[in-house]
Amino acid sequence: AAIKKYQFDIQVRNVSRLCHAKPIVTVNGRFPGPTIYVREGDRVLVNVTNYAQYNMSIHWHGLKQYRNGWADGPAYITQCPIQKGSSYNYDFNVTGQRGTLWWHAHIFWLRATVYGAIVIMPKQGTPYPFPRPNMEFNIVLGEWWNTDVEEVVRQGTKMGLPPNMSDAHTINGKPGPLFPCSEKYTFAMEVEPGKTYLLRIVNAALNDELFFGISGHTMTVVEVDAVYTKPFTTQTILIAPGQTTNVLVKANQVPGRYFMATRPFIDVPLPIDNKTATAILQYKGIPNTVLPSLPQLPAPNDTEFALSYNRKLRSLNSPQFPANLPLKVDRKLFYTIGFGKDSCPTCANGTRLLASLNNISFVMPQTALLQAHYFNLTGVFRTDFPDKPPTPFNYTGAPLTASLGTVHGTKPSLSKIAFNSTVELVLQDTNLLTVESHPFHLHGYNFFVVGTGIGNFDPVKDPAKYNLVDPIERNTVGVPTGGWTAIRFRADNPGVWFMHCHLELHTGWGLKTAFVVEDGPGPDQSILPPPKDLPAC
Ligand code: C2O
Repeated sequence: AAIKKYQFDIQVRNVSRLCHAKPIVTVNGRFPGPTIYVREGDRVLVNVTNYAQYNMSIHWHGLKQYRNGWADGPAYITQCPIQKGSSYNYDFNVTGQRGTLWWHAHIFWLRATVYGAIVIMPKQGTPYPFPRPNMEFNIVLGEWWNTDVEEVVRQGTKMGLPPNMSDAHTINGKPGPLFPCSEKYTFAMEVEPGKTYLLRIVNAALNDELFFGISGHTMTVVEVDAVYTKPFTTQTILIAPGQTTNVLVKANQVPGRYFMATRPFIDVPLPIDNKTATAILQYKGIPNTVLPSLPQLPAPNDTEFALSYNRKLRSLNSPQFPANLPLKVDRKLFYTIGFGKDSCPTCANGTRLLASLNNISFVMPQTALLQAHYFNLTGVFRTDFPDKPPTPFNYTGAPLTASLGTVHGTKPSLSKIAFNSTVELVLQDTNLLTVESHPFHLHGYNFFVVGTGIGNFDPVKDPAKYNLVDPIERNTVGVPTGGWTAIRFRADNPGVWFMHCHLELHTGWGLKTAFVVEDGPGPDQSILPPPKDLPAC
């Protein structure tokens, strides 16, 4: 195993897209930021130095950070922010994982521009469990606002409303020629006939689940969230914010130019966002004058496609890469997802939106929760997060008002989990104000998605239909609109681990919580001591 070192300078740079130039926060002046290349088993040291006016914190999304939450990154959960003029060295091992993950700022909405891919190659001499591609490309999907994102959010908060939709989607930071002034901001990928390419696709968008397709070509899905899958072929992939998907693409069409395209999947009565970002798949030697054609993507609200696509995702579950699914469950949790309103004297109409789990809208602490837990600081958080909603109701019936009450306490409320216990968590969407789909991300773990469905979870009938053979293993999963998703994991990683909706909008409204996983009795089962340079609060 090697030590891989990276220097991340947080700098503000002027970047221009869609005929608008604006200062954005970057890593090393680049947008998107640099890719981290490592091999399974490596130790990684990323020294982050903050030269910007904003507080910063970086999260290595999907890396398990065993016993090492200090390197996980969510601000005020595992560390305090890196302030202007300071540095912090993220020091972690990449153990037992290989594939595509990504990193992003984990403070306010700064991940709008501060993100990049993480490529973890398998151990030397360990081939991929699929035919070896001739070449690999990263395809990082994102969003672009013409105005300052923090300002967009501030405006929204003042009005107590969702902030404005982004002005473009992007592929590797580029919107593609369907947007104004974007001809030269188009990502192009050159291919040779007959060769096979591995595309490492990341959804770094703030608020949109995305379809992605390539005209004329099919894709074979081989991995999601750095876990190998049973391969299957599709015209379109669906990818939620936080998720990654690796596909194989064979350049087996008439040599020419083809559009890759991405646009949102939205199956709720919101204004449909139809903006399509494009990039070009170009066969070698074809002149740029040949016009590409667009791929057929499903309708923006094609729920059927979404359900059937997600059903196809299965763990590879081979002897070499077994699915270590817990079959016995020690702790059952049932969390409802809802929206509510809170009075807000400083907001334009006196109220603002909140989002909650089991009616609790998370309040951010002033001190990092992991520090508070490790040093036994009392009074920072409580461990009374309920295992189920206060009162059961018809979760997905007619639209409900906020009268069920959303609690917005003064301290974060967390759930305490015994070391090595097996947990099943059912996330249930509700019609509190409105139904909507939510990509949930758990830090510090992968989990198995044992079941999902539309309507209310039935604790008798639904578990009987679980996939306990080859459920997909991942770190971010969609809870369908007006439906539920059941996940399982073994709590073998001690620490304080954030869990939240990866739509930045919803996270901001409080759709988040954290698990305190207790230390185990063994010598290697407790949280490692904090690094010396851990930022102080
Ligand atoms: Cu990718 Cu807590 O986030």
